Amino acid sequence: MKIAVTSANGKLGTAIVQQLISKIGREHIIGIARSPEKAKHLGITIRKGDYNSREQFNKALEGVNCVLLISGMDDPEKRIQQHRNVIEAAKQNSVQKIVYTSIIGDENNNAFSPVVQSNRQTERDITASGLQWSIGRNGIYIEPDIEYIDTYVKEGSITNCAGDGKCTYTSRKELSYAYSEMLLSKKHNSEIYNLVGNPITQTELANLFNKIYDTNLSYTPVSIEAYEKDRKEALGDFIGTIIAGIYQGIKNGANNVISDYEKATGRPHKSPLEMIKEIKLDSKN
Ligand SMILES: NC(=O)c1ccc[n+]([C@@H]2O[C@H](COP(=O)([O-])OP(=O)(O)OC[C@H]3O[C@@H](n4cnc5c(N)ncnc54)[C@H](OP(=O)(O)O)[C@@H]3O)[C@@H](O)[C@H]2O)c1
Repeated sequence: MKIAVTSANGKLGTAIVQQLISKIGREHIIGIARSPEKAKHLGITIRKGDYNSREQFNKALEGVNCVLLISGMDDPEKRIQQHRNVIEAAKQNSVQKIVYTSIIGDENNNAFSPVVQSNRQTERDITASGLQWSIGRNGIYIEPDIEYIDTYVKEGSITNCAGDGKCTYTSRKELSYAYSEMLLSKKHNSEIYNLVGNPITQTELANLFNKIYDTNLSYTPVSIEAYEKDRKEALGDFIGTIIAGIYQGIKNGANNVISDYEKATGRPHKSPLEMIKEIKLDSKN
């Protein structure tokens, strides 16, 4: 049994590799990375695989039974062909099953929609591939907000355009648990799961931070236009637009979805309080 994980050195890839190692042992896992030297620390066989190169994936997937495709980071239009390189190489190598990390979100109406559309196209490419498949639609990670706490404290509040919209945050650790189940069990074949936790507002997020980090944060809603302008100035046009689009989506309910996490894992998703406590503890170890 050989399971390959693409983008294995990324934060999600690393978390999934670690879950798989604990479940089936390192000899059964192959990490694929566009810069193999960045993945050495994982302690597993590493092969080279840039999503832009079908040839690299033709080799990287040799002898692989099941592949986890982690969605790429490029412009949405480029991602579709990049993901097709992996799907076609999987078919050529007679890989039996492909598991894909997709995303929750609205296909229209906000600046994040092009990313969601490209993920939906890959979902269609996978379901039409003839391979066995299983797809997760990931919620928004809670980790970046935690990493941002010092900035929130300096600014005195969490400021964005989500308003009273609720967001079903998840964490990479919770996702890694779900994906290891989806990779290892046939019962998840032909399923698309919303991999998300309980919905909370930004005010509730601020209150949780106050409880766990002893901060005194509040939440300040701003208009979509003001937030987009601010994020573009801070992060550049591409990422700034995406971030503003994500919060616009939260405002309009795109991230307030029913969770399938328990179907994927057999246990409830951790609460936001539990996730934040766990991440705080992990950061100290
Ligand atoms: N749900 C959310 O809140 C959320 C937030 C951000 C991103 N995402 C999505 O989830 C994915 C995984 O997140 P993460 O936390 O693991 O991100 P991350 O830590 O930034 O890792 C991204 C990974 O993608 C790899 N990559 C980028 N372009 C590639 C290419 N052309 N070919 C092969 N690999 C490539 C990177 O390789 P290098 O190290 O060589 O650059 C890295 O391993 C992201 O790629 C993105 O699609 C989701």
